[in-house]
Amino acid sequence: MILITGANGNVGREVVKQALAVGLKIRATYRSPAAASRAPAGLEGVIMDYAKPETIRPALHGVEKVFLVGPPVRELPAFEANFVREVCATGRKHIIKLSALGGWESIFPSGHRVSEENIEASGLPYTFLRPNGFMQNLVNFNTDTISSENAFYGCQGTGAVSLVDIRNIAAVAVIVLAAAGHEGKSYALTGGEALTNEQVAEKISRIAGRKISYVDLPVAEFKKGILSTGTSEWSADALIDLQRLYRERRASIVTDDIEQLTGHKPITFDQFALDYAFAFRDPAKIAS
Ligand SMILES: NC(=O)c1ccc[n+]([C@@H]2O[C@H](COP(=O)([O-])OP(=O)(O)OC[C@H]3O[C@@H](n4cnc5c(N)ncnc54)[C@H](OP(=O)(O)O)[C@@H]3O)[C@@H](O)[C@H]2O)c1
Repeated sequence: MILITGANGNVGREVVKQALAVGLKIRATYRSPAAASRAPAGLEGVIMDYAKPETIRPALHGVEKVFLVGPPVRELPAFEANFVREVCATGRKHIIKLSALGGWESIFPSGHRVSEENIEASGLPYTFLRPNGFMQNLVNFNTDTISSENAFYGCQGTGAVSLVDIRNIAAVAVIVLAAAGHEGKSYALTGGEALTNEQVAEKISRIAGRKISYVDLPVAEFKKGILSTGTSEWSADALIDLQRLYRERRASIVTDDIEQLTGHKPITFDQFALDYAFAFRDPAKIAS
Protein backbone atom coordinates (compact mmCIF):
# COMPACT_ATOMS: atom_id res chain seq x y z
CA MET A 1 0.00 0.00 0.00
CA ILE A 2 1.25 3.46 -0.98
CA LEU A 3 0.10 6.62 0.78
CA ILE A 4 -0.14 9.85 -1.23
CA THR A 5 -0.59 12.99 0.85
CA GLY A 6 -1.77 16.38 -0.43
CA ALA A 7 -3.81 14.40 -2.95
CA ASN A 8 -6.09 17.34 -3.72
CA GLY A 9 -3.19 19.63 -4.66
CA ASN A 10 -1.58 20.37 -8.01
CA VAL A 11 1.12 17.72 -7.77
CA GLY A 12 -0.76 15.22 -5.56
CA ARG A 13 -3.69 15.07 -8.00
CA GLU A 14 -1.39 14.25 -10.91
CA VAL A 15 0.55 11.63 -8.91
CA VAL A 16 -2.74 9.96 -7.94
CA LYS A 17 -3.84 9.93 -11.58
CA GLN A 18 -0.58 8.43 -12.87
CA ALA A 19 -0.28 5.95 -9.97
CA LEU A 20 -3.79 4.65 -10.63
CA ALA A 21 -3.03 4.38 -14.34
CA VAL A 22 -0.18 1.92 -13.67
CA GLY A 23 -2.25 -0.06 -11.17
CA LEU A 24 -0.58 0.92 -7.89
CA LYS A 25 -2.62 0.26 -4.76
CA ILE A 26 -3.03 3.65 -3.15
CA ARG A 27 -4.52 5.44 -0.21
CA ALA A 28 -4.76 9.21 -0.57
CA THR A 29 -5.15 11.90 2.07
CA TYR A 30 -7.56 14.83 1.90
CA ARG A 31 -8.08 17.63 4.34
CA SER A 32 -11.85 17.76 4.02
CA PRO A 33 -14.64 15.26 3.36
CA ALA A 34 -15.73 17.50 0.45
CA ALA A 35 -12.34 17.10 -1.25
CA ALA A 36 -12.30 13.36 -0.46
CA SER A 37 -15.73 12.98 -2.08
CA ARG A 38 -14.25 14.27 -5.36
CA ALA A 39 -11.43 11.69 -5.31
CA PRO A 40 -11.15 9.48 -8.38
CA ALA A 41 -12.47 5.93 -8.24
CA GLY A 42 -10.06 3.12 -7.44
CA LEU A 43 -8.34 4.54 -4.36
CA GLU A 44 -8.96 4.61 -0.63
CA GLY A 45 -9.45 8.19 0.58
CA VAL A 46 -8.77 9.24 4.17
CA ILE A 47 -9.06 12.55 6.00
CA MET A 48 -5.76 13.81 7.42
CA ASP A 49 -4.54 17.15 8.73
CA TYR A 50 -0.84 17.65 9.47
CA ALA A 51 -1.83 20.07 12.24
CA LYS A 52 -3.83 17.30 13.98
CA PRO A 53 -1.36 14.47 14.65
CA GLU A 54 -4.16 12.15 15.81
CA THR A 55 -5.43 12.07 12.19
CA ILE A 56 -2.05 10.97 10.81
CA ARG A 57 -1.58 7.54 12.36
CA PRO A 58 -4.74 5.89 10.95
CA ALA A 59 -3.67 6.98 7.45
CA LEU A 60 -0.39 5.07 7.86
CA HIS A 61 -1.87 1.67 8.66
CA GLY A 62 -0.44 -1.04 6.35
CA VAL A 63 1.53 1.51 4.32
CA GLU A 64 5.02 0.73 2.90
CA LYS A 65 5.83 3.89 0.97
CA VAL A 66 4.67 7.47 1.30
CA PHE A 67 4.61 10.32 -1.22
CA LEU A 68 4.80 13.31 1.12
CA VAL A 69 3.41 16.63 -0.14
CA GLY A 70 3.27 19.55 2.25
CA PRO A 71 1.58 22.87 1.45
CA PRO A 72 3.79 25.86 0.54
CA VAL A 73 3.30 27.66 3.86
CA ARG A 74 5.47 28.83 6.74
CA GLU A 75 4.33 25.84 8.83
CA LEU A 76 5.59 23.24 6.29
CA PRO A 77 8.58 22.03 8.40
CA ALA A 78 6.40 21.67 11.51
CA PHE A 79 3.60 19.93 9.55
CA GLU A 80 6.00 17.44 7.97
CA ALA A 81 7.76 16.90 11.34
CA ASN A 82 4.38 15.89 12.83
CA PHE A 83 4.01 13.42 9.99
CA VAL A 84 7.53 11.99 10.28
CA ARG A 85 7.08 11.51 14.04
CA GLU A 86 4.01 9.35 13.39
CA VAL A 87 5.81 7.38 10.66
CA CYS A 88 8.67 6.63 13.08
CA ALA A 89 6.15 5.45 15.67
CA THR A 90 4.51 3.02 13.24
CA GLY A 91 7.54 1.27 11.74
CA ARG A 92 9.88 1.69 8.80
CA LYS A 93 8.38 3.27 5.71
CA HIS A 94 10.13 4.82 2.73
CA ILE A 95 9.31 8.55 2.48
CA ILE A 96 9.43 10.10 -0.98
CA LYS A 97 9.30 13.79 -0.20
CA LEU A 98 8.25 16.44 -2.69
CA SER A 99 10.81 19.14 -1.95
CA ALA A 100 12.10 22.10 -3.98
CA LEU A 101 15.23 23.12 -5.84
CA GLY A 102 17.24 25.89 -4.21
CA GLY A 103 18.38 24.53 -0.84
CA TRP A 104 19.12 27.32 1.64
CA GLU A 105 19.16 30.00 -1.05
CA SER A 106 15.57 31.16 -0.71
CA ILE A 107 12.64 31.04 1.74
CA PHE A 108 10.41 28.37 0.12
CA PRO A 109 13.20 25.82 -0.52
CA SER A 110 14.73 26.52 2.90
CA GLY A 111 11.53 25.30 4.56
CA HIS A 112 11.84 22.13 2.52
CA ARG A 113 15.51 21.77 3.44
CA VAL A 114 14.63 21.98 7.15
CA SER A 115 12.16 19.15 6.61
CA GLU A 116 14.67 17.14 4.55
CA GLU A 117 17.19 17.39 7.38
CA ASN A 118 14.58 16.16 9.83
CA ILE A 119 13.83 13.18 7.59
CA GLU A 120 17.56 12.44 7.17
CA ALA A 121 17.98 12.49 10.96
CA SER A 122 14.99 10.17 11.47
CA GLY A 123 16.86 7.19 10.03
CA LEU A 124 13.94 6.39 7.70
CA PRO A 125 14.63 5.48 4.08
CA TYR A 126 13.96 8.55 1.94
CA THR A 127 14.08 9.98 -1.57
CA PHE A 128 13.87 13.71 -2.22
CA LEU A 129 12.32 15.08 -5.40
CA ARG A 130 13.47 18.68 -5.85
CA PRO A 131 11.64 20.37 -8.70
CA ASN A 132 12.27 23.84 -10.06
CA GLY A 133 9.29 26.20 -10.56
CA PHE A 134 6.23 24.57 -12.13
CA MET A 135 5.09 25.48 -15.67
CA GLN A 136 1.55 25.12 -14.32
CA ASN A 137 2.12 28.16 -12.03
CA LEU A 138 1.32 30.21 -15.15
CA VAL A 139 -2.12 28.61 -15.26
CA ASN A 140 -2.74 28.66 -11.51
CA PHE A 141 -1.55 32.18 -10.75
CA ASN A 142 -1.43 34.25 -13.94
CA THR A 143 -4.42 33.47 -16.13
CA ASP A 144 -6.61 36.18 -14.52
CA THR A 145 -4.37 39.01 -15.70
CA ILE A 146 -3.46 37.19 -18.91
CA SER A 147 -7.15 37.09 -19.69
CA SER A 148 -8.10 40.61 -18.50
CA GLU A 149 -4.91 42.58 -19.33
CA ASN A 150 -3.02 40.37 -21.80
CA ALA A 151 -0.14 40.51 -19.30
CA PHE A 152 1.44 38.82 -16.33
CA TYR A 153 3.62 40.36 -13.66
CA GLY A 154 6.74 39.59 -11.66
CA CYS A 155 10.05 41.02 -10.49
CA GLN A 156 12.49 38.38 -11.76
CA GLY A 157 13.91 40.67 -14.44
CA THR A 158 15.66 38.79 -17.21
CA GLY A 159 16.53 35.78 -15.06
CA ALA A 160 15.88 32.52 -16.90
CA VAL A 161 14.29 29.55 -15.08
CA SER A 162 14.27 25.88 -16.11
CA LEU A 163 10.54 25.49 -15.40
CA VAL A 164 9.30 21.91 -15.10
CA ASP A 165 5.93 20.37 -15.98
CA ILE A 166 4.06 18.82 -13.05
CA ARG A 167 3.29 15.78 -15.24
CA ASN A 168 7.03 15.01 -15.36
CA ILE A 169 7.33 15.37 -11.58
CA ALA A 170 4.44 12.93 -11.15
CA ALA A 171 6.00 10.47 -13.61
CA VAL A 172 9.21 10.46 -11.57
CA ALA A 173 7.24 10.08 -8.33
CA VAL A 174 5.40 7.03 -9.66
CA ILE A 175 8.65 5.42 -10.84
CA VAL A 176 10.21 5.92 -7.39
CA LEU A 177 7.04 4.67 -5.69
CA ALA A 178 6.81 1.58 -7.87
CA ALA A 179 10.42 0.31 -7.71
CA ALA A 180 13.31 -0.15 -5.29
CA GLY A 181 16.76 1.41 -5.65
CA HIS A 182 15.99 5.07 -4.99
CA GLU A 183 16.64 5.13 -1.23
CA GLY A 184 18.99 7.90 -0.06
CA LYS A 185 18.83 9.68 -3.44
CA SER A 186 17.83 13.23 -4.35
CA TYR A 187 16.65 14.18 -7.81
CA ALA A 188 16.78 17.70 -9.23
CA LEU A 189 13.82 17.98 -11.58
CA THR A 190 14.05 20.68 -14.23
CA GLY A 191 12.77 21.34 -17.69
CA GLY A 192 15.10 20.92 -20.65
CA GLU A 193 15.69 24.65 -21.15
CA ALA A 194 15.85 27.81 -19.05
CA LEU A 195 13.49 30.57 -20.21
CA THR A 196 13.14 34.23 -19.27
CA ASN A 197 9.61 35.49 -18.66
CA GLU A 198 9.90 37.46 -21.89
CA GLN A 199 10.45 34.16 -23.75
CA VAL A 200 7.58 32.58 -21.81
CA ALA A 201 5.34 35.49 -22.86
CA GLU A 202 6.33 35.02 -26.53
CA LYS A 203 5.51 31.32 -26.40
CA ILE A 204 2.14 31.91 -24.73
CA SER A 205 1.37 34.68 -27.25
CA ARG A 206 1.90 32.24 -30.09
CA ILE A 207 -0.55 29.75 -28.57
CA ALA A 208 -3.05 32.40 -27.45
CA GLY A 209 -3.11 34.05 -30.86
CA ARG A 210 -2.63 37.51 -29.35
CA LYS A 211 0.19 39.49 -27.73
CA ILE A 212 0.73 38.58 -24.07
CA SER A 213 3.39 40.62 -22.26
CA TYR A 214 5.54 40.03 -19.22
CA VAL A 215 5.68 43.18 -17.12
CA ASP A 216 8.61 43.45 -14.74
CA LEU A 217 7.72 45.52 -11.67
CA PRO A 218 9.73 47.12 -8.87
CA VAL A 219 9.73 44.72 -5.89
CA ALA A 220 7.55 46.95 -3.67
CA GLU A 221 4.92 47.35 -6.39
CA PHE A 222 4.86 43.62 -7.12
CA LYS A 223 4.45 42.87 -3.41
CA LYS A 224 1.57 45.35 -3.14
CA GLY A 225 -0.15 43.53 -6.01
CA ILE A 226 0.31 40.11 -4.39
CA LEU A 227 -0.97 41.32 -1.02
CA SER A 228 -4.06 42.82 -2.70
CA THR A 229 -5.11 39.27 -3.71
CA GLY A 230 -5.32 38.26 -0.04
CA THR A 231 -1.95 36.45 0.02
CA SER A 232 -0.30 36.38 3.47
CA GLU A 233 2.73 38.60 4.17
CA TRP A 234 4.92 35.48 4.63
CA SER A 235 3.86 33.99 1.29
CA ALA A 236 4.35 37.33 -0.48
CA ASP A 237 7.86 37.67 0.97
CA ALA A 238 8.68 34.05 0.05
CA LEU A 239 7.48 34.60 -3.51
CA ILE A 240 9.50 37.80 -3.85
CA ASP A 241 12.56 36.06 -2.46
CA LEU A 242 12.13 33.33 -5.09
CA GLN A 243 11.91 36.01 -7.79
CA ARG A 244 15.19 37.41 -6.42
CA LEU A 245 16.78 33.97 -6.88
CA TYR A 246 15.45 33.89 -10.44
CA ARG A 247 16.65 37.44 -11.09
CA GLU A 248 20.12 36.48 -9.89
CA ARG A 249 20.07 33.67 -12.50
CA ARG A 250 20.41 30.98 -9.86
CA ALA A 251 17.45 28.86 -11.02
CA SER A 252 18.53 28.18 -14.59
CA ILE A 253 20.34 24.87 -14.08
CA VAL A 254 19.21 22.13 -16.47
CA THR A 255 19.58 18.54 -15.27
CA ASP A 256 18.91 15.23 -17.01
CA ASP A 257 17.34 13.51 -13.98
CA ILE A 258 13.88 13.36 -15.59
CA GLU A 259 15.27 11.78 -18.76
CA GLN A 260 17.45 9.35 -16.79
CA LEU A 261 14.50 8.20 -14.69
CA THR A 262 11.65 8.21 -17.21
CA GLY A 263 13.57 7.52 -20.43
CA HIS A 264 11.98 10.60 -22.02
CA LYS A 265 13.09 14.21 -22.46
CA PRO A 266 11.19 16.60 -20.17
CA ILE A 267 8.02 18.17 -21.58
CA THR A 268 8.97 21.41 -23.35
CA PHE A 269 7.33 24.73 -22.54
CA ASP A 270 5.91 24.80 -26.09
CA GLN A 271 4.21 21.44 -25.50
CA PHE A 272 2.94 22.59 -22.10
CA ALA A 273 1.49 25.78 -23.63
CA LEU A 274 -0.23 23.76 -26.35
CA ASP A 275 -1.71 21.30 -23.85
CA TYR A 276 -2.99 24.18 -21.68
CA ALA A 277 -4.06 26.39 -24.60
CA PHE A 278 -7.58 26.51 -23.13
CA ALA A 279 -6.17 28.59 -20.25
CA PHE A 280 -4.45 31.14 -22.48
CA ARG A 281 -6.81 31.59 -25.44
CA ASP A 282 -9.35 34.40 -25.42
CA PRO A 283 -12.59 32.87 -24.01
CA ALA A 284 -14.72 35.23 -26.14
CA LYS A 285 -13.02 34.02 -29.33
CA ILE A 286 -13.33 30.35 -28.31
CA ALA A 287 -17.08 30.81 -27.74
CA SER A 288 -17.63 32.44 -31.13
N1 LIG B 1 4.76 25.86 -7.29
C1 LIG B 1 6.02 25.63 -7.58
O1 LIG B 1 6.57 26.16 -8.57
C2 LIG B 1 6.84 24.71 -6.71
C3 LIG B 1 8.16 24.43 -7.07
C4 LIG B 1 8.91 23.54 -6.29
C5 LIG B 1 8.33 22.96 -5.17
N2 LIG B 1 7.05 23.25 -4.84
C6 LIG B 1 6.48 22.59 -3.65
O2 LIG B 1 5.56 21.61 -4.08
C7 LIG B 1 4.66 21.35 -3.01
C8 LIG B 1 3.27 21.08 -3.55
O3 LIG B 1 2.87 22.09 -4.41
P1 LIG B 1 1.38 22.09 -4.93
O4 LIG B 1 1.30 23.16 -5.96
O5 LIG B 1 0.91 20.71 -5.26
O6 LIG B 1 0.63 22.58 -3.62
P2 LIG B 1 -0.92 22.66 -3.35
O7 LIG B 1 -1.69 22.57 -4.63
O8 LIG B 1 -1.13 23.83 -2.45
O9 LIG B 1 -1.18 21.30 -2.55
C9 LIG B 1 -0.92 21.16 -1.20
C10 LIG B 1 -1.78 20.05 -0.65
O10 LIG B 1 -1.58 19.99 0.77
C11 LIG B 1 -2.87 19.95 1.39
N3 LIG B 1 -2.81 20.56 2.72
C12 LIG B 1 -2.75 21.88 3.02
N4 LIG B 1 -2.71 22.05 4.36
C13 LIG B 1 -2.78 20.80 4.89
C14 LIG B 1 -2.82 20.30 6.21
N5 LIG B 1 -2.77 21.13 7.28
N6 LIG B 1 -2.92 18.97 6.40
C15 LIG B 1 -2.98 18.11 5.34
N7 LIG B 1 -2.94 18.52 4.06
C16 LIG B 1 -2.85 19.86 3.84
C17 LIG B 1 -3.78 20.72 0.47
O11 LIG B 1 -5.11 20.36 0.75
P3 LIG B 1 -6.34 21.28 0.24
O12 LIG B 1 -6.43 21.02 -1.23
O13 LIG B 1 -7.48 20.80 1.02
O14 LIG B 1 -5.95 22.70 0.55
C18 LIG B 1 -3.28 20.26 -0.88
O15 LIG B 1 -3.85 19.04 -1.24
C19 LIG B 1 4.76 22.53 -2.04
O16 LIG B 1 5.37 22.08 -0.85
C20 LIG B 1 5.66 23.52 -2.77
O17 LIG B 1 6.49 24.23 -1.87
C21 LIG B 1 6.29 24.10 -5.58
